[in-house]
Amino acid sequence: MDAILVKGGAPLSGRIPIAGAKNACLALMPATLLADQPLTLTNAPRLSDIRTMTQLLQSLGAEVTSLNAGRVLALSSHDVTVLRADYDIVRRMRASILVLGPLVARFGRAEVSLPGGCAIGARPVDLHLKALEAMGAEIELIDGYVHATAPSGGLRGARIDFPFVSVGATENALMAATLARGTTVIGNAAREPEIVDLARCLRAMGARIEGEGTPVITVEGVDALHGATHAVVADRIELGTYMLAPAIAGGSVECLGGRLDLVGAFAEKLDAAGITVEETPLGLRTARRNGQAKALHVVTEPFPGFPTDLQAQMMAFLCTADGVSVLEERIFENRFMHAPELSRMGARIAVAGGRATVTGVPRLRGAPVMATDLRASVSLILAALAAEGETLVRRVYHLDRGYERVEEKLGGVGATIERVQDR
Ligand code: EPZ
Repeated sequence: MDAILVKGGAPLSGRIPIAGAKNACLALMPATLLADQPLTLTNAPRLSDIRTMTQLLQSLGAEVTSLNAGRVLALSSHDVTVLRADYDIVRRMRASILVLGPLVARFGRAEVSLPGGCAIGARPVDLHLKALEAMGAEIELIDGYVHATAPSGGLRGARIDFPFVSVGATENALMAATLARGTTVIGNAAREPEIVDLARCLRAMGARIEGEGTPVITVEGVDALHGATHAVVADRIELGTYMLAPAIAGGSVECLGGRLDLVGAFAEKLDAAGITVEETPLGLRTARRNGQAKALHVVTEPFPGFPTDLQAQMMAFLCTADGVSVLEERIFENRFMHAPELSRMGARIAVAGGRATVTGVPRLRGAPVMATDLRASVSLILAALAAEGETLVRRVYHLDRGYERVEEKLGGVGATIERVQDR
């Protein structure tokens, strides 16, 4: 099993290319099910989650061809005959639930395994199902599978008001609404850049959508969508992760393809901590100014608030800030599993419910640590960049789900980091 070995201490310098967004691509790929003409996605990230979504779509009978070393995905659902997403794939990746809306909208029915929880929380899909029911779908839960059936005339437009923001439920509702008869209004819609990117791709396929990126999205259903070519938006979570690398290790790094509008709230926090964030012609540069970083109070919220997917990374940074920081995790119920691992490196972190209090220490010490979930694993690598001595991060398969070649990208800017075989 792979592990990542990091020797701390080297300040960073250079450029890191930011890949296409995993969480945009995982919604864009199922969109191919809405049309019988090919969808081509460029700037696709090369990640194990993308390979899992490929397998899932292929299990339905769709064609997915990976070109240009995985950077381009050519998809076609012309020959989809299977309308069942099996548990053995869905259990590996919760985003599989995003085939539900498109399948019901285009083919009239679907059987999709319930994704089940994951390390960071129970992660139910009740809002996804309620949205489809509002559009006329009949939903039954049988033996751990969602059985959804559209009315004989197909889904119909509806007013959907989400009680709280859900990225995935907004994506399922948005995709289903593109082929529903009539108008759908999605209230309390997620505003994440991945939603905006999905709406742009659907519009290129012929969908009639307004309001993406605001809390109210309006969709006029059409009879059919057609093919398109779409470039996946840059990954704001990978961007934020690498913006933090020089903040922790010292030095200066330019993230190529980074855009300030993707990481507004996060960049504001970095600036408040005393980190320079600068827009360049090629992206975003961050650099550590002299002296210790300042402590912060961080609260995770739906976009445009501070992203939950950058909470673990920010905690790694605050472990050596000057003073006491507080991080409040308001999106998921169990997203502090990186805390005990960081404590093994000498961090002083007290967790009580959804609140973590971090008392800064002068320096962390390298130690063998364990990755528990995708973003926790990268926070341990960030912490290791400045820790005294060596850190071995085990179970990096979590990491490979969401980060392309992390050892190459950080190694390329001067980190002492390598992938090793764990015993
Ligand atoms: C997406 O997950 C992302 N995943 C997550 O990124 C991200 O953390 C999350 O949005 C929040 O930004 C993908 O896009 C593939 P939600 P999603 O529905 O859609 C509850 C990563 O690290 N909820 O916005 O599953 C849910 O339990 C991953 O890349 C319900 O109760 O998140 C959570 O507490 C981790 N019922 C909250 O809402 C529902 O029907 C927000 O979840 C749906 C969600």
